[in-house]
Amino acid sequence: MTSLMDKSPKERASLLQDWQKQYELVSGNLLSMDLSRGKPAADQLALSDALENAIDGDYRAKDGTDVRNYGGLRGLPEARALGAELLETPAAHVIAGGNSSLALMHLVIRTALDKGLWQDERAWAKADAPTLITPVPGYDRHFTLTAALGINMLNVEMTDKGPNMDQVRSLIADDPNIKGIWNVPKYSNPTGCTYSDATVAQMAALPNDAAADDFVVLWDNAYAVHDLEFPGAKLASIYDASVALGTQDHVAQFASTSKVTFAGAGIAFIGSGPTVLDSLEKELQHMTIGPDKVNQLRHSRFLDGRIEDHMRAHAELLKPKFEVVLDTLERELGDLGVAQWTRPKGGYFVSLDVGPGLAKKVIQLAEDVGLTLTPAGATFPHGEDPEDRNVRIAPTFAALDELTEAMLILTLCIKLATAQGMHD
Ligand SMILES: Cc1ncc(COP(=O)(O)O)c(C=O)c1O
Repeated sequence: MTSLMDKSPKERASLLQDWQKQYELVSGNLLSMDLSRGKPAADQLALSDALENAIDGDYRAKDGTDVRNYGGLRGLPEARALGAELLETPAAHVIAGGNSSLALMHLVIRTALDKGLWQDERAWAKADAPTLITPVPGYDRHFTLTAALGINMLNVEMTDKGPNMDQVRSLIADDPNIKGIWNVPKYSNPTGCTYSDATVAQMAALPNDAAADDFVVLWDNAYAVHDLEFPGAKLASIYDASVALGTQDHVAQFASTSKVTFAGAGIAFIGSGPTVLDSLEKELQHMTIGPDKVNQLRHSRFLDGRIEDHMRAHAELLKPKFEVVLDTLERELGDLGVAQWTRPKGGYFVSLDVGPGLAKKVIQLAEDVGLTLTPAGATFPHGEDPEDRNVRIAPTFAALDELTEAMLILTLCIKLATAQGMHD
């Protein structure tokens, strides 16, 4: 089949008419479907219902701590060990916190800004214009958090091996305002790429290469174990690389069990060097007398030695959903040359690029017939996708039959918007 561009004007006009008719039919039968957020579906949450029985009246941690009581700012030893398994660091370098890794990211950035992470004179707020590098497309909540704290953002291109490191290195070399870089290194949100070994090694070296002496690599490993195929993609250890380069106190790793157990009631972790963890503990002590250790204990018992088995069970539920998305994109758009998309081997998203200037229109067409997608531009800082091309697909929450219908509508909207654009 020829691409839409290469078809004759007559063929294109006839296709446009067909797609318009199909769209009108769908409009007459409004839907209510949502592919906007990367939430686990109820059957995934149910995989962890046994958390409820993991305490069973035994509230003593391995070291004898009564988890019902106050205390233990860095978290229970067994919860820290769980975080260490996700982050591939020693447990001594992990704090196990509450249910949200985003809250820990906020803590790190707020501390870096106001007081500094190293208990010395360095603090980002002393700079004229503290700035973080934002690989794009990326995770919208990283961008909104950064903007909310008044920090500037500088975009660099995301490749299938990670951020374009030539761009990153040339930016950081001369500008002391550039204080760090956001990363989702494995099954990145939204492109699904996993950083190459070379990218990880170069990232770990950035704090040594940067003009700023308070540069931090923010390493949000939210999808560390979220494989769809086994064995999954192998991410090199930034911990090992940073220890070898002496940059351990300039790398802040994050993970959580949000998409392992209960999205709203998991455990979040931060891993970093000893100085940073001490600084964070100092801040934490003003915020809490200790984390929810009951939740930490039940998670540790429930997941002990069986993370991979548990993630295989998630993959069994998720793989068919990713297949529906990818098969529908291929079947409906494959030959038309109207979009490109990623084929992730894990994580929660598929990233789709439509023609320049069309993402807003596609998302609006979908919204008008009852299909909600992540807002156009959300995968870029300040909601501004300079080319208006990126659409993030979050297939996990919808039921399989709904997803099939939603994907037919999305692909129809892409065809229609593209053909209308060529006709105008
Ligand atoms: C890259 C990334 N980081 C963090 C989060 C949220 O993590 P948490 O639930 O631990 O706050 C998400 C959720 O979608 C995510 O995609």
